[in-house]
Amino acid sequence: MKKTIKDFELKGKTVIIRCDLNVPMIDGTIEDDTRIRSSLRTIKFAIDASAKVILLSHLGRVKKDADKITNSLYPVSIRLSKYLGREVLFSYDTRSDVLTKRAQELKEKDILLIENTRFEDLDGNKESSCDLELAKYWSSLGDIFINDAYGSCHRRHASIVGIPQYLPSGIGFLVDKELKKIDAILNSKTHPFIVILGGKKIADKITLIERLLEKCDKLLIGGAMSFPFLKTLGYDVVDSSNAKEYQSFCQSVLKKYADKIVLPSDFLTSRDNQNIEIKNINDISEKDIGYDIGPKTIKRFEEEIKKAKRVVINGPMGIFEDKRFAHGTSEIFKVLDKNKIKTLVGGGDTASAANSLGYASSFYHISTGGGATLKYLEDGKLVGIEAIDDKE
Ligand code: 3PG
Repeated sequence: MKKTIKDFELKGKTVIIRCDLNVPMIDGTIEDDTRIRSSLRTIKFAIDASAKVILLSHLGRVKKDADKITNSLYPVSIRLSKYLGREVLFSYDTRSDVLTKRAQELKEKDILLIENTRFEDLDGNKESSCDLELAKYWSSLGDIFINDAYGSCHRRHASIVGIPQYLPSGIGFLVDKELKKIDAILNSKTHPFIVILGGKKIADKITLIERLLEKCDKLLIGGAMSFPFLKTLGYDVVDSSNAKEYQSFCQSVLKKYADKIVLPSDFLTSRDNQNIEIKNINDISEKDIGYDIGPKTIKRFEEEIKKAKRVVINGPMGIFEDKRFAHGTSEIFKVLDKNKIKTLVGGGDTASAANSLGYASSFYHISTGGGATLKYLEDGKLVGIEAIDDKE
């Protein structure tokens, strides 16, 4: 059992809370603030206990200087201030003497959000490769570390795995709740257990598929996730992933688990993003981009879903942000909801889709973590949780 925030005397202490405030943002406007709202309980608990609070999070991926403009957490500090009903101070520095001084000067109930931890990636990938000097610096700002960043617990980052090496640590309310929900799905003996995968983070998810296939009864693959598999089968789909790289992997799992994997047989396609056509997989050429799954695929997926006793869905079936391509994802949610299937929705994008398509309160659990949930399903553990102190 891991320590939780409730195991610490917080009054007067500086508590560093690692949140996952990695929200979808377009031109500085927050598109979906589920992750911000999900972080509030732990922050409020620390404030009510008269702690001084320092918040850390990443936002997006920061590979070049220009990424700093689009990936600032400043808009998140404004949204947090609104929800918490008190000012959330913001530090543009992720590491400096000025930041150290600001941390030292915090008063009880003050909250300071530090800029995107991945800005440190511009200097030798320090956050993402768990640079211990960086972790030691951040730990020097506080007395206690709380990990409430469920969605990032699969990342071996300095702010996730590094800091607890130097500070007493525990988990927050969000992480605690997420682990309990996913454990309940995993440990249930009911079958069929169906996993539905979609979305575009192919490199992140594809290698997890083999372990998922060992555990589930059927794996339905939609969205861009299906492209490397279809390409391997010889179809002409436009595949943004590097199909060659995945080809032998896809070949081997398609052979070994032929009876478990269900792939799309048609797509909503377009060549110019204007004229949309439904095309059977056999008729798709290299010029047709598949934006959503087609009606035959929806029907086939529905047949499987209706039989399911528990489902994990991770990743949308199409580009749901564009209404013209939201139908596939929406229909899948609809059949899960209508048939009251015990469903865990995993992932920032999938949670956003559930919210924007009107299914926010339909499911057993909408997780704030996609990659983390898949990793936990695969391994039964997460590096970010392993790094936290055990209860004595
Ligand atoms: C997520 O959105 O899955 C988490 O915040 C982790 O983000 P990442 O995939 O960029 O590491």
